Amino acid sequence: MTRDSGMTPGDAGADFVVVANRLPVDLVRDADGTEHWKASPGGLVTALESILRANHGAWVGWPGVPDAAPEPFDSGGIRLHSVQLSAEDISQYYEGFSNATLWPLFHDVVVPPEYHREWWNAYRDVNTRFAEATADAAAPGATVWVQDYQLLLVPRLLRELRPDLTIGFFLHIPFPPVELFMQLPWRAELVEGMLGADLVGFHLPGGADNFRILANKLRGHPSVRLTSSKTKAAEIRVDDRMVRVGAFPISIDSAAVDRSARARETLVRADRLRHELGSPRVLLLGVDRLDYTKGIDVRLRALEELIEEERLDPSEVTLLQLATPSRERVEQYQIMRSRIEESVGRINGMYGEIGQPVVTYIHRPVPKSELTAFYAAADVMLVTPVRDGMNLVAKEYVAACTDGEGALVLSEFAGAANELRQAYLCNPHDLDGVKDAIMSAIDDPREERRRRMRSLRRQVLGNDVHAWARRFFTTLDATSNA
Ligand code: ADP
Ligand code: F6P
Repeated sequence: MTRDSGMTPGDAGADFVVVANRLPVDLVRDADGTEHWKASPGGLVTALESILRANHGAWVGWPGVPDAAPEPFDSGGIRLHSVQLSAEDISQYYEGFSNATLWPLFHDVVVPPEYHREWWNAYRDVNTRFAEATADAAAPGATVWVQDYQLLLVPRLLRELRPDLTIGFFLHIPFPPVELFMQLPWRAELVEGMLGADLVGFHLPGGADNFRILANKLRGHPSVRLTSSKTKAAEIRVDDRMVRVGAFPISIDSAAVDRSARARETLVRADRLRHELGSPRVLLLGVDRLDYTKGIDVRLRALEELIEEERLDPSEVTLLQLATPSRERVEQYQIMRSRIEESVGRINGMYGEIGQPVVTYIHRPVPKSELTAFYAAADVMLVTPVRDGMNLVAKEYVAACTDGEGALVLSEFAGAANELRQAYLCNPHDLDGVKDAIMSAIDDPREERRRRMRSLRRQVLGNDVHAWARRFFTTLDATSNA
């Protein structure tokens, strides 16, 4: 990545600015009134933090709690600029329009999206404030990289305020088929918002195609495909500008995960963990935000049926399921949490022994080093979302399998399945298929498992997050307006 621009001293602004709903750290207010910062959840932060630390840029985002607006400060080489959100903004812009309208709509309407005009008004208002904060943080001629579905209007709003900027936009979640997007009462405004960027990036070529079709259908903007491009890019004409779109599958800092998984402390912790879990013959692992898209319920049902059918012996198998709390005030998240916790209780009540549950369920984040030890300890990783933009957990697991042992069960509906073809792929809507994939991942001959893992590791170690950012910026630099 060549964007080694650094912060311009004083108040002149930064030459490289990331804008995302959340800052990479969340402010935590303890009961006694003291405040401290902790790492924010999710794949976006995992991916971008390493890019930005290497480039000394600025980050504009929400500090994670209502009514907080600390002055800009430096954290690990990144200048953090806070956007203040009130409790009402959080309820209507974040929990409402972002996570109860766009999130379910963009994830194949796995739960029904809700459409409310007051949520939309709040979304537009908060996007305006993000654009203003970014305009203040960026140096003349800077490059700004806007992230994800919470900020779809920011590229256009920012261009209106600062036509001198080069603007990239990247969507970290799937972009839906045209018929679904058309449900949105504010569809044309949202597409125009994204078209304010010079380059609009998606994980998969299908998302880029859907967007291109919509730009034409809703706003009459014509496009041409750039057939020579590796990113399957196209150019859309928007008045006198050209906007590029393309597919840029995100990845992880593979070498860093690999290194951390090889460290002696990690291996010792991995051994101890297996021991603490009762030294099972088979350790299954799930690591997710507690989100209804992640298919945690699917894998619990699969495990329960496999035990019922005596294809798995509960005294020999353990599932360790980490489920980071997420969007806890949104109703569908509460429904899913109850369902998952009920299943865990039922499975353990039915098949667990004293001091030896079948499912060990942890509903809180764990430190990265601990997580890497969990990956290194697991025999089979279960990644079974009903829809997921990419799923970095799948890639982290592969990077942590440094001894080539381990197997990945992966939903075809995760973006990662496009690249990780040698995983044990399954359709999460076909429970028998999921069960068979789990059994193959457990029972296949060791050489077959190792062959698959070798291929997965080649993919993940050869395509890391730095290569992803390089591809994005090479394309951004090549846009005719930049
Ligand atoms: P999403 O962005 O939808 O949350 P991803 O799988 O792409 O999903 O990214 C999730 C990120 O959050 C990964 O980097 C993963 O390591 C991290 N993560 C998930 N669960 C936990 C947990 N319980 N503790 C710490 N980190 C977690
Ligand atoms: O891309 C998925 C995503 O929504 C990111 O934008 C976000 O950082 C992450 O999941 C976690 O979600 P939230 O910020 O709502 O906790």
